[in-house]
Amino acid sequence: MMVRVEIDNLFKRFSDGTSIGPISLTIQDGEMLSLLGPSGSGKTTTLRMVAGFIVPDGGSLRFDGKDVIKQPPRERKIGMVVQSVALFPNMSVYQNIAFALDVAGWEHHRAVKRVEDLADIVGVRNLLHRKVNEISGGEGQRIALARALALEPALLLLDEPFSALDPKLRQRLQEELRDLQQKLGITTIYVTHSQSEAYAISDKIAILNEGAIIQAGPPQELYENPRNDFVATFIGGGSILKGIVRKSHRGFLDVQVGDLFVETSGDVSQGTEVSLSVKPEDVSIIPKTVDSLYATIVSITQQVGHYRIILEIQGQTIQTTVPTNHSIDGLERGKIVGLKIDSQSVDVIEER
Ligand SMILES: Nc1ncnc2c1ncn2[C@@H]1O[C@H](COP(=O)(O)OP(=O)(O)OP(=O)(O)O)[C@@H](O)[C@H]1O
Ligand SMILES: [Mg+2]
Repeated sequence: MMVRVEIDNLFKRFSDGTSIGPISLTIQDGEMLSLLGPSGSGKTTTLRMVAGFIVPDGGSLRFDGKDVIKQPPRERKIGMVVQSVALFPNMSVYQNIAFALDVAGWEHHRAVKRVEDLADIVGVRNLLHRKVNEISGGEGQRIALARALALEPALLLLDEPFSALDPKLRQRLQEELRDLQQKLGITTIYVTHSQSEAYAISDKIAILNEGAIIQAGPPQELYENPRNDFVATFIGGGSILKGIVRKSHRGFLDVQVGDLFVETSGDVSQGTEVSLSVKPEDVSIIPKTVDSLYATIVSITQQVGHYRIILEIQGQTIQTTVPTNHSIDGLERGKIVGLKIDSQSVDVIEER
């Protein structure tokens, strides 16, 4: 069972004036969409409006074409999992998964069979008789997922379900969830503030910032064609250089950034103000020559597997990475270095 979800200009205004939306989005049958954005951008609020726990102040919400705004959450055929384990503490794992079935009045034998099947699906069959305080965080989220799936929801809503888990387990559960979601063909909205998580599991990503959807599309499309500076930096981990197109000829651009000229490609007319979205992998530090670009090293920090080097170029900052198995001899804070920017992979965003 699955559902097509149409969110149309949905918005919420809280009493203190904070407003979220208007949000418009369509999630197709069986699709997995990630709502990706920084803390406070409105992800949870949007999800809770779709679930029916927050009543929107305007806009419409349709499931398979049918208006559900007036439906209470329990009639919307949704399953929901949230960040902190919200299992019922005084019950066994079995009782937690069976909870919705009991409420719905399932006959005992049928409920037992359903709980066992769900426990198999999420890999907690051996835990059914444990108490909830005798399981780990990862097991807790598997159980929460089984409980959310118990009544075969048409729509699965997940609000940062794995963010409290260690990175390795988080990755494993992401993979399992994605497999399960595809196997069941269940329409899913997944809230996360992690771009790598959104990338790993989604058919489509909607980027949220300050209560508005900035861009929505398949992951690769957002990466390759970010609509604005926010998407470029948030998704690509890239930097923005602002400049003005001085020459435009047959797809080649000469963009003036301060006193320097960056060559790139694109179809933008002369005189246009642009933002160049430059990903760390597009930038390399080279020996300084008369006609190379030049920049000043602002900082070098060691991270897992690479150094992150922040540079200043014409009063703007740009970053690059160098694998830790490469030498950074001679590179230090304050030093002026040559810079090469891969003209092919830079995105040119027109200022509007
Ligand atoms: N009941 C409320 N009353 C007033 N403001 C609220 C209420 N709930 C949320 N907000 C505000 O709305 C904005 C969006 O909150 P929301 O919880 O949707 O963000 P989020 O993207 O889920 O963030 P996080 O990643 O931290 O969970 C925030 O500024 C928050 O303070
Ligand atoms: Mg939230």
